[in-house]
Amino acid sequence: MSLFLDNAATSFPKPEAVYRAMDAAMREVGVAPGRGGYRQSLAAARIVYEARAALAAFFGVSDSSRLVFTHSATESINIAVSGLLKAGDHVVSTTVEHNALLRPLQLMRERGVEVTLVQGDREGKVSERQIAAALRPNTRLVALAHCSNVTGAIQPVEEIARIARAGGALMLVDAAQSAGYLPIDCETMGIDLLAAPGHKGLFGPPGTGILAIAEGLRLDPLLVGGTGGNASSPHQPEQLPERFESGTTNTPALAGLKAGLDFILEKGLAAIRAKERGLIAQLLEGLRFIPGVVLYGPLAGEHGGAVSFNVEGRDPSELAFALDHNFDISVRAGLHCAPHVHRTIGTYPGGTVRVSPGFFNNEDDIGFFLKAMRELR
Ligand SMILES: Cc1ncc(COP(=O)(O)O)c(C=O)c1O
Repeated sequence: MSLFLDNAATSFPKPEAVYRAMDAAMREVGVAPGRGGYRQSLAAARIVYEARAALAAFFGVSDSSRLVFTHSATESINIAVSGLLKAGDHVVSTTVEHNALLRPLQLMRERGVEVTLVQGDREGKVSERQIAAALRPNTRLVALAHCSNVTGAIQPVEEIARIARAGGALMLVDAAQSAGYLPIDCETMGIDLLAAPGHKGLFGPPGTGILAIAEGLRLDPLLVGGTGGNASSPHQPEQLPERFESGTTNTPALAGLKAGLDFILEKGLAAIRAKERGLIAQLLEGLRFIPGVVLYGPLAGEHGGAVSFNVEGRDPSELAFALDHNFDISVRAGLHCAPHVHRTIGTYPGGTVRVSPGFFNNEDDIGFFLKAMRELR
């Protein structure tokens, strides 16, 4: 099998228990939760409830009904942004965001919402002072990614959340690159809206995501329809999680996501992060000494799970193609759905090569990748 170093896109492979849990849910339960009163449907509801309760506890959400399931971080961000903002509101975000946030913000702009993008520095970082300076009396939301999928820069979300709250704004965190790697506690960190994928650091299957919504916050749903209860009402229910979960739930996927979270709890978040940090340090150290390699993002201190680089005079796509075809190594090249990041770090329009190891990689894998790079450059 090829050497997969694109875990920032989705984690692969998954822990064995994830495959087993999905298989069992598909074969043994295999029906919609909450749609029937018969035991098989109740068993499905139990799977969904247990996944929700476990994720809520993991992310510091004391009322688990306020953690809703979506199919991706993108959907979660869309619900948060379009469910909250109205014409005349102001939002503060940054130039180092993924399109999953930038495009919903652009849509809001077209609907009369004002958007300020705070400029990231060459490492892809922003400071709480910059956010504070951008706040206005009508700022309703501060929205940003915890960790960049291009540079690996980690933002000071706790400090920014404090600034947002002091300025009367809500805080939305896109945890696509941090959920399952960095500790996140919504209530103690002051995060009002947390959007995360299930399929990256949480080891769940593709097509899973979560949105945690703070107590007292009422959002409009993106999708309305059947929720299993309140069937006689023509209106979407007010209560959570039903308000945001119309349509048949993907129970096997949520069984897999719960198993992914159990794997994290069993290994320990700190141990997972320590392993990631070791592999990232090995990557940065190795790439730094390859002539012609230019590294982006923070070169010292905290670093997320993605490393971006270029080789002078070489096209990133051509390098990624050669890594795949000559060495069977999967990495990603280009803009990584985050064009403004590249404008910010000076790699637009070509982008970068991005390497993102995962929990199931080891030092030999990184060694093999570095050897391939030395041959290719
Ligand atoms: C920073 C960031 N935000 C959002 C997303 C979107 O996640 P999803 O694929 O679950 O919609 C990604 C995915 O790459 C990401 O890296």
